[in-house]
Amino acid sequence: MSNLHNKRIVLIVSGGIAAYKALELVRRLRDDGAMVRVVMTQAATQFVGELSFQALSGEPVHRDLLDANAEAAMGHIELARWADAVVVAPATADFMARLRYGLADDLATTLCLASAVPLLLAPAMNQQMWQNQATQENASTLAARGILSIGPDSGLQACGEIGPGRMAEPAAITTALSQLFATASMAGRRVMVTAGPTREAIDPVRYLSNRSSGKMGYAIAQAAVEAGAAVTLISGPVALHPPAGVRTTDVESADQMFKAVTSGIDEIDIFIACAAVADYCIEAPSAQKRKKNDESLSLTLTPTRDILRSVTTRPSPPFAVGFAAETENLVLNARAKLEAKSLDMIAANEVGGPGLGFESNENELHVLWNGGEQRLAKAPKDLIARQLISLIAECYRRGHDDIH
Ligand code: CTP
Repeated sequence: MSNLHNKRIVLIVSGGIAAYKALELVRRLRDDGAMVRVVMTQAATQFVGELSFQALSGEPVHRDLLDANAEAAMGHIELARWADAVVVAPATADFMARLRYGLADDLATTLCLASAVPLLLAPAMNQQMWQNQATQENASTLAARGILSIGPDSGLQACGEIGPGRMAEPAAITTALSQLFATASMAGRRVMVTAGPTREAIDPVRYLSNRSSGKMGYAIAQAAVEAGAAVTLISGPVALHPPAGVRTTDVESADQMFKAVTSGIDEIDIFIACAAVADYCIEAPSAQKRKKNDESLSLTLTPTRDILRSVTTRPSPPFAVGFAAETENLVLNARAKLEAKSLDMIAANEVGGPGLGFESNENELHVLWNGGEQRLAKAPKDLIARQLISLIAECYRRGHDDIH
């Protein structure tokens, strides 16, 4: 049963071209068993008719703050109290600005102020408006207040421009909302996560490494603990505090990570390989610090062991999740890797673009498994991690149900 079953969701639709996509969101939420009440801003009614939302939600649409009839039926305070979560989709630049300053000049903003339940925004606007410093400052201030947001996605916009500003897909918003109500989806599971980069020694003071910050892996370990799992984290060198409640083993090289994983893997139900393991190490690291001279220097590299593959080729492997960093043909390459490494699931992200992936606080993933896929729209890594954990828990459970 979906986490959204019997949950009461207030959907605020503000006035942007993406408002039509909110219709599909209502349908998906209802399909998952949620009760939905729609609030439209004045501008939203210029884009989509009130009747469409009424028909899909099965409830009258709320529009006016000072309509005596509506207030008598269910006023803004009752609506705020009724909700288990509030989602704003689309959230326009104007709506975000008004929310930031705590304005309460219409039903939608008043309701947000009066509500104490989780608030999720799905921003949608012209890419230049999104990237404008004012909007970015509003977005960070709202995030710092604990307001969640998902997206926006990048791509071709209704105005013909290309860039970040498209509203996250209704499926992704539904997953993010459902995540808010996830309870102990991994209770009793034993999970191992690898995270961070590895360092391959050249000599006692120098090494080869990569730009992985470990943030995604740490967020996944944290999300798995929150979902009730017993979590072991095998971490390369990073500048992060180990998440509370996680058993962490620090390693440096790919070889050390391999040994740490191998020694604990027998006890594990779910293995998540998030580390950016070096594919090569130095064949013969020097025992002493290398001295420079005028000659050019060649280092011979030799392949490291593939830790993930070593796990999936065990006689009875755990449920295995891999990551794929791709610069092109994301889905195609990821699906090939899913098969080549005999994975149960793969989380692919596009690297090479600005603001995503390595070192960034945000990520965007395309998750694939045998028989399904789901895109997780750009969001802070902790939110992405929670969504990924709930997908893994669902797939793991399904695999088990099939067997029993
Ligand atoms: N991995 C691993 N051990 C290695 C290398 C990779 O466990 N020695 C894991 C990573 O943690 C990640 C996945 O394998 O989950 C990445 O697979 P890989 O084929 O290495 O992907 P890319 O590094 O993206 O490879 P390529 O350069 O071939 O695209």
